[in-house]
Amino acid sequence: MSAQILVLSGPNLNLLGSRDPAVYGTMTLEEHLAAFAVVAEGFGARVDHVQSNFEGDLVDQIHGARGKYAAIVINAGALTHYSWSLRDALDVFDGISIEVHLSNPAGREPFRHVSTLAAVVDGTIAGFGQLSYELAAYAIRDILNARSE
Ligand code: DQA
Repeated sequence: MSAQILVLSGPNLNLLGSRDPAVYGTMTLEEHLAAFAVVAEGFGARVDHVQSNFEGDLVDQIHGARGKYAAIVINAGALTHYSWSLRDALDVFDGISIEVHLSNPAGREPFRHVSTLAAVVDGTIAGFGQLSYELAAYAIRDILNARSE
C-alpha cells in the first residue's frame, strides 16, 4: 500500500504568490504543492492537502490523520510561533511529522524565533523556499525506506 502524506498549510499561506514576494517568492501554494507532489509521487506516496486560516481546523486535521497518514508536513504559518494546541495535537500524531517554512524564521523578527512545534516534530526544514517542501518529501522518502529495510 502506498504511503499517504498530509500537507497542512496554516494562516495566510493561501496568499502565497502575492504575499510579500521578497520574503516568500512568487510561487502560489498550489505550485509549491505540485512540486512537493512530483517528489512524493515519485516514490509512490499519495498526497492530500488542507489549507486553513483557523487553528482548530488544523488541530482536527491532525487528529483525523492518526492511523491514516504515514506523515504530516506542516507549515503552520504564524501559528508556529504561539499555538500550543497544534503542538499538543502533533505530539500525539503517530507518524512522521516535519515542520516546513519557506523563509528562515530564525533570521527574521524575534517573535518568529520561537516554534511551539519544533520539539514535537521529527525535524524542521526552513529557509529554502520551494526547496523546503521538496526536501521534506525527500526526508519522508528516506525515513520510510530506512524503516522498511
Ligand atoms: C512561514 C514563516 C512564518 O513566520 C510566517 O508567519 C508565515 C510563513 C514560512 O513559511 O516562512 O506565515 O511559516
